[in-house]
Amino acid sequence: MLKARPMSDPKKLFVKTYGCQMNVYDSERMVSALGAAGYEQVDTADDADMILLNTCHIREKAAEKIYSELGRYRPLKNAKPDLKIGVAGCVAQAEGEEIIRRQPMVDLVVGPQSYHRLPDMVAKTGNGVGLVDTDFPEEDKFDHLPQAPKSKRAPSAFLTVQEGCDKFCAFCVVPYTRGAEVSRPAQKIIDEAIDLTERGVRDITLLGQNVNAYHGQGPDGDDWTLARLIRELAKIDDLWRIRFTTSHPNDMDDDLIAAHGDLDKLMPYLHLPVQSGSDKILKAMNRKHTAASYLKVLDRIRAVRPDIALSGDFIVGFPEETEEDFQATLDLCEQVKYAQAYSFKYSTRPGTPAADRPQVDEDVKTERLARLQALLAKHQHEFLQNLVGKTIPVLLERPGRLDGQLVGRSEYLWPVHVLADAGLTGQIVNVRVQGADTNSLSAVLV
Ligand code: 5AD
Ligand code: SF4
Repeated sequence: MLKARPMSDPKKLFVKTYGCQMNVYDSERMVSALGAAGYEQVDTADDADMILLNTCHIREKAAEKIYSELGRYRPLKNAKPDLKIGVAGCVAQAEGEEIIRRQPMVDLVVGPQSYHRLPDMVAKTGNGVGLVDTDFPEEDKFDHLPQAPKSKRAPSAFLTVQEGCDKFCAFCVVPYTRGAEVSRPAQKIIDEAIDLTERGVRDITLLGQNVNAYHGQGPDGDDWTLARLIRELAKIDDLWRIRFTTSHPNDMDDDLIAAHGDLDKLMPYLHLPVQSGSDKILKAMNRKHTAASYLKVLDRIRAVRPDIALSGDFIVGFPEETEEDFQATLDLCEQVKYAQAYSFKYSTRPGTPAADRPQVDEDVKTERLARLQALLAKHQHEFLQNLVGKTIPVLLERPGRLDGQLVGRSEYLWPVHVLADAGLTGQIVNVRVQGADTNSLSAVLV
């Protein structure tokens, strides 16, 4: 009989994830890939054998923040010279070699399209020379990124279906950091969704920087739209809830709108960024839609799904934004009454078209952002208050902070706190909403 070789102790991997949900998904996949190379994820950097930062470039001074974070790891590296430090994600893509130049203690820099090469890169580190891979390779990284061995998962999960963007909004780095739009083949997504449900997942959010531009190859050889993919996913019995994010208004096609009316599994929540309510600014942003065309899309969705919770993104103080333009944004918000929204002051991203344009004063941006956020907060509060007293279905997900309490997800987006037996985790229960906080609901089982 063959004797099993004693396994060496797993090496400790600390991963810090910044930014969007796609980075959360990518980090999970990198942890799995490195798991096969003998690494086990830990919660702190202190005694790690490898530190991996999965970075985001969307916010201001993103790269500077990463450089100072790296600086904080210097004492760890000094104390343990064979500690490996890696930088992944969009800052890695944007900065490349510069990261090694400014922080020579970094062992590897890897862009989002090269994650499948990470275990090989890690194996090659250690000779004091930093490795950089920011290619956009031909091969599909997901084919080479293993899933963790069959392990139980929380009831909700992300699944990347599409990456990159061809829209080139004048403020945005995504087309440069994530590259051109690429859709994964439909069958791979369906297989991954089935695998997730076998691990206990019931609520899947399909991810893509421009998810509704999805056009992956279907098993029949045709290009499938996102709606077609969702309709197919809805046939998986153990998958109860489907969501998708983030979308562009121009890619909300007829079938995707119709799906919101006729697919019970498609949740009544839609994140559809508009950025501004002024047509002049939308044009300057290269958004290729108007306020009116955007509102028309929303009208059509509300016609088939009246209770839909709408969410959006806004940028204030884009170059040339006047008080009148900003007022148009406030007017649009008054019309839509978003259930939830994200809003930002415009800030320049080197290499994007708007970066070199004359900028709006910082004070003006600050003041406009405060006014917009006050209005958005008021609408969010109204949406949540409107749910008080109603009975809604909630997917129970995890223990809450209080004894005997579970936290679940409504069909919309907010967490719901319920007193319920832990054995109900992973089930959908009906609850009556009793109260609304800023960002969550409290409810009782009915
Ligand atoms: N300045 C401010 N906000 C930005 N966003 C993207 N780029 C910028 C920028 N340069 C915002 C947009 C986008 C969201 C993800 O981040 O609103 O939809
Ligand atoms: Fe960036 Fe979204 Fe515009 Fe693409 S559609 S350039 S990801 S803001």
